[in-house]
Amino acid sequence: MHKAVKSQVDWTALREDFPILRERVNGHPLIYFDSAASSQKPASVLDVVRNYYEHENANVHRGLHALSARATEHYEKSRQRVADFIGAKSADEIIFTRGTTESINLVAQTWGPKFLRAGDVILLTEMEHHSNLVPWQLLSERIGAQLRFVPVRDDGTLALEKFSSLLTPEVKLFAFTHVSNSLGTINPVAELCAKAKNIGAATLVDAAQSIGHMPVNVQEIGCDFLAFSGHKMCAPTGIGALYGRFDVLDAMPPYQGGGEMIVSVTLEKSTFKKPPQRFEAGTPSIAGAIGLGAAVDYLEGIGRGEIFKHDVDLTQYALERMKEVPGLRVLGTAKEHAGAISFVMDAAHPHDLTTFADRYGLAMRGGHHCNQPLMRRFGVTGSTRASFYLYNTREEIDRMVEILQKAANFFK
Ligand code: ALA
Repeated sequence: MHKAVKSQVDWTALREDFPILRERVNGHPLIYFDSAASSQKPASVLDVVRNYYEHENANVHRGLHALSARATEHYEKSRQRVADFIGAKSADEIIFTRGTTESINLVAQTWGPKFLRAGDVILLTEMEHHSNLVPWQLLSERIGAQLRFVPVRDDGTLALEKFSSLLTPEVKLFAFTHVSNSLGTINPVAELCAKAKNIGAATLVDAAQSIGHMPVNVQEIGCDFLAFSGHKMCAPTGIGALYGRFDVLDAMPPYQGGGEMIVSVTLEKSTFKKPPQRFEAGTPSIAGAIGLGAAVDYLEGIGRGEIFKHDVDLTQYALERMKEVPGLRVLGTAKEHAGAISFVMDAAHPHDLTTFADRYGLAMRGGHHCNQPLMRRFGVTGSTRASFYLYNTREEIDRMVEILQKAANFFK
């Protein structure tokens, strides 16, 4: 049996930071194994958002009054915290967005048409979730670019042996995920970025599943863009960020037009600010950004290295224990495996299984996980996914295994 990893962090005591974990669901204590879809929020994040609305609520960058100054200071401090969190050179490299999806769409709609031409190739992988697939499909239809895909092996890793034939000079952008949302596979991001850079292609890393779970440093990774969401890393929904190297952002046209992003406006024409303001039209999610800053503080207080070890410990323990459930098959067996496990059971459709588990207070995700092509690749229409985070425990995994065993009996 996988041995528990010693840690400085008291993971059980830390659960007290998350008020929602006291909930009971269908008469049972909540077991929340759906953090890959959205994480829970600690009290420190909830308090900061409440404090903003109670004591600082005003628009940013506009008012000459005290509240607006407070809100602006807090909002911009969060930008700096996010920059430090991901090792960006400057806060000017951080654009606040609604999340990963908007960050990727921003690149596809601004950088894409300016720097890509008909016949250019956008290289993706077969494991991308829809957010890092559909924006590129829309762009390629618009400008006549081609999409190409790095295949996924049976063990859920990328077929890197195919890389040299895929990464040809026509490739102008390589956009790929750091961690597979369905399989939990961790990709060798720095190595992939270096390979793309060698042929002069730009790189975009989708860090939605890694940002709150392991150290992420854009300078070490060497990417041009990195996209992530706040709500998967203990922050509120509706906020996320796009990192872009400053020179790259500075060469891009605006994304949306409106207030805040302009220098001057006449009836006929406008001029635009430098990044990041050029890409933040209109009133942003101020409370969201402030909450994101508090989430950064919270995660930094624990350390993403520690969180990663905890995730891996839970995953290895779960993988071993799940072998005891009859008819259960795990999709993807990569050695580099983060805290998400997708599986199918002979006896039950993923939707039925996930609904069954919910009766016992166990929240998992069932379906295609915004990952239809990858599900097809594994010959299934969907799977059940258990995903872990810093507030989960081995005892909860024991309970999950009991529930899955009950399901195996119930559905047979
Ligand atoms: N991409 C999110 C997930 O994996 C929504 O559940």
